Parts: sequence; C-alpha cells; structure tokens
Amino acid sequence: MSCLGDQVNSEKMYARHRRVLQTVSLAALLAYSALLAYQTLSRGLVDEEDVLTEKVARRRAPFDRSLHEDPSVAVTSEASSATATLRPPTTVLHDVFISVKTTKSYHRQRLPIILKTWFQLAKAQTWFFTDTDDPEFQLKTNGHMINTNCSSSHNRKALCCKMSVEFDTFIETDKKWFCHFDDDNYVNVPRLVRFLGDYNPREDWYLGKPSIQAPLEIINKEKKHTQKIKFWFATGGAGFCLSRALALKMMPVASGGKFISTGEKIRLPDDVTMGYIIEHLLKKPLTVVDQFHSHLEPMKFIRREILEDQISFSYARNKDEWNVVKIEGFDTKYDTNRFLSLHCFLFPHFNFCPR
Ligand SMILES: *[C@@H]1O[C@H](CO)[C@@H](O)[C@H](O)[C@H]1NC(C)=O
Repeated sequence: MSCLGDQVNSEKMYARHRRVLQTVSLAALLAYSALLAYQTLSRGLVDEEDVLTEKVARRRAPFDRSLHEDPSVAVTSEASSATATLRPPTTVLHDVFISVKTTKSYHRQRLPIILKTWFQLAKAQTWFFTDTDDPEFQLKTNGHMINTNCSSSHNRKALCCKMSVEFDTFIETDKKWFCHFDDDNYVNVPRLVRFLGDYNPREDWYLGKPSIQAPLEIINKEKKHTQKIKFWFATGGAGFCLSRALALKMMPVASGGKFISTGEKIRLPDDVTMGYIIEHLLKKPLTVVDQFHSHLEPMKFIRREILEDQISFSYARNKDEWNVVKIEGFDTKYDTNRFLSLHCFLFPHFNFCPR
C-alpha cells in the first residue's frame, strides 16, 4: 500500500512538475513575445523621438556652436544620423519665406498680375514689403502686405531700410530659406522649392546671380589707410536666397536696423550691401545660379525649352522697346509683360488659361 501510495504520489508529483514546467515555459514564451513586441514598438517610438530631436537640433544648430560638445545631444544626433539615410531632409514650400519688395505707386500697376499668377502657388509664404498702408491690397493678399514705414523714395537708405525689415521679418519666422524678389519678378514657385532642395539650410548658402562680369571693387577709407575691397553680390532684381544658417550669422551686422547703418557706411544699394556683408564681412562666397533672371538681361534669349527650369523672370520697358520673355499666348495688348502667357505655359491648369 505504502509502496503503491509512494508510486501514486511520485506520479502526482511528476504530473505537477510537468504542469509547472509547462506553465513556466508558456510564461517564458509570452514574456519573450512581449519583449519582441516591446522592442518593435519602442523602436518605432525612438524613431519618432529622433525626428523630434532632430527638428529641435536643426533649429538649434545655428545658434549653438557647442552642439557637438554636449554628450547628450551628440548621442541623439548620432541616433538621428542613423535614421537620416531612411529619411533624407526634403525641402517643401512651407520651408521658404518669399519677400517681394514693392512701393505704394506700384501696387496697382505691378501687384495684380503677381496675385493672379504665381502668388496663387505660395499664398501663405509670400509677403509684400511696402511703404504705406493699403487696405485694398491688404485684403487681396490676405493680410500679407507689410508696411515697413520706410521712405517711398528710391534712394539707398529707403531700399536698405526695406531689406532690413525683410531680413528681420524672416528671422522671426521658423522658415529655412529667405528668398527676396522685386515686384517686377515672376517666380516659378515649384522650381524654386525643388532648387532649394539641393542645398542644406543648416549650411551657409548665398544663392543668386551677379549682373556684372567681375567682382565689385570699392575703396574703404576707414581708419586712415585706404583699402581695396572686392566682392560679388547677387542682383536684387533677379532674386536671391539665403539659408537660415547664414542669415543667423549675419544678425550682428544685419538685424534690428543694422543693415541700414552698414549700407550707409559703404554708401551702396541694398543688394550690394548684402554682398558686402556676406562675401566681405563673413567671407562666405556667392553661389552663382543662372536660373535667376533680372531685367538687366535680355529675356528673349531664354529658350522656350528651358523656361520650366528657370526660377525667376523679369521685364522692363526701355522707351518703346519691351524686354520680355518670348512666349506665345495672350495678346500683347492684354499681356504686355508676358507674365500671364508665361504662367499658362508653366501651369496650363489655371482657370484663366486657354484650353
Ligand atoms: C510701422 O509703424 C506702425 C505704427 O507706428 C507700427 O505699428 C508697425 O509695427 C511699424 N512697422 C514696422 C515693420 O516696424
């Protein structure tokens, strides 16, 4: 009996052991699956975090030179560089701040065509810098007219004054690129955005087109000795772009009205002052971009096949001769500067374009 009892007992114990063992292995399996699931999930979460920290780092990078000396930031930037290969930084319309310099006597003459055409492709990103309050155009631009309070005369000080306000307004945004144009420019918005995508806004970029064949030479008569200074500048009338990183470095000599005093010092126009600050003071070179066009070049030589690839266009009237883009389309009586025809060539889906 006792022997049988022992056997039964040991059988019971064996069965109990098995059950315990099964339970333990089941628990282990569950734990393992949970661990796997957690790892997958947390990797996803880390990815999201990386994007965030990268965004913050990106915003902070230009301010914070010691970024890479901070070990905690270094770790996250390493982690984000691992994911960077999967997510190349892309430039979207939202990243660009577009400023258009105008003046009160040109509102009625020049702004309607811009508002009808390319402004429609960058309504939220484009701002008009002028010298008066204009309720009519304030309404037509959805509140995008900025009265700089600068003089409306076309002198150096007034021009530098507007550029100074354009610059300060850009600095206050979270945009990656500052692109300046004049009110006689047509901007090929999608092309501009694609073009900027080739450059890193965290690096120093001054992108534009000079209108002279050699660098400008000026004599600096400061501090008794005279000094010859040579530098390139991008013609304001063709448009140019600055990366945020570069704009932040320019702040000590360009922000809060200092752009005006710098311009006064060298006694040169706004776009030349821009070149002086970037090329001479900061020693950052201008990158020549042929796709920007001012009215200083003959528009008719831009071939039809390459129109789509150009970033900006302009027009001018010299006596009875019009310097305009050569493009078929609307009657010249109705579309003197050819911007309507150019717009319909580039974006035929617009409702006013013939079909
Ligand atoms: C222009 O002056 C008005 C009135 O003083 C002011 O409200 C506005 O902020 C000024 N604009 C700029 C760009 O400083």
